[in-house]
Amino acid sequence: MSDKLVAYFSASGVTEKVAREIARVEGADCFAILPEIPYTREDLDWTNRQSRSTLEMSDLSCRPAVSGCVGNMEQYGVIFVGFPIWWGREPSVVDTFLTSYDFCGKRIVPFCTSGGSGIGKTAERIRSLVGAGTVVEEGKRLGGEVSAEDLKLWTEGLKL
Ligand SMILES: Cc1cc2nc3c(=O)[nH]c(=O)nc-3n(C[C@H](O)[C@H](O)[C@H](O)COP(=O)(O)O)c2cc1C
Repeated sequence: MSDKLVAYFSASGVTEKVAREIARVEGADCFAILPEIPYTREDLDWTNRQSRSTLEMSDLSCRPAVSGCVGNMEQYGVIFVGFPIWWGREPSVVDTFLTSYDFCGKRIVPFCTSGGSGIGKTAERIRSLVGAGTVVEEGKRLGGEVSAEDLKLWTEGLKL
């Protein structure tokens, strides 16, 4: 029984691959944050001002419904939260996940993949969503092809 969880949202598979590798290296459980209504290719078109993702991301209070839940959250002390960067931050569906549980006393370790942007001020935003009783690490942008050795170096540095 692991006390570590890797929860991730991935629209096109890049973050999912990294999440699965972190879970393998850390011996952690894995939870896919799945939107109740899956994103279509059109939904993900960031060049369209009216696409679902553009509309959701322009509203900081948007909380798209998530399908399923982590029934045993009390088991976990460390929760890696992974996502693709959308418009410079975590997608709204990740905000739904973060506001659906009591993370008090736990550690959240954000990680992201992106087309080039860094993780930016995402940790700050996550802190404001989960409240003061939760330790939120600065987190890291990881390449889709990150090696197990580099992941291990990163997580060892966190002293989990
Ligand atoms: C709606 C949308 C917005 C995005 N915004 C950014 C961005 O602001 N900066 C960036 O570097 N990449 C951006 N990307 C690219 C994704 O972060 C990148 O392709 C990511 O690795 C995809 O991960 P996934 O396959 O797990 O969904 C965006 C992608 C989408 C679909």
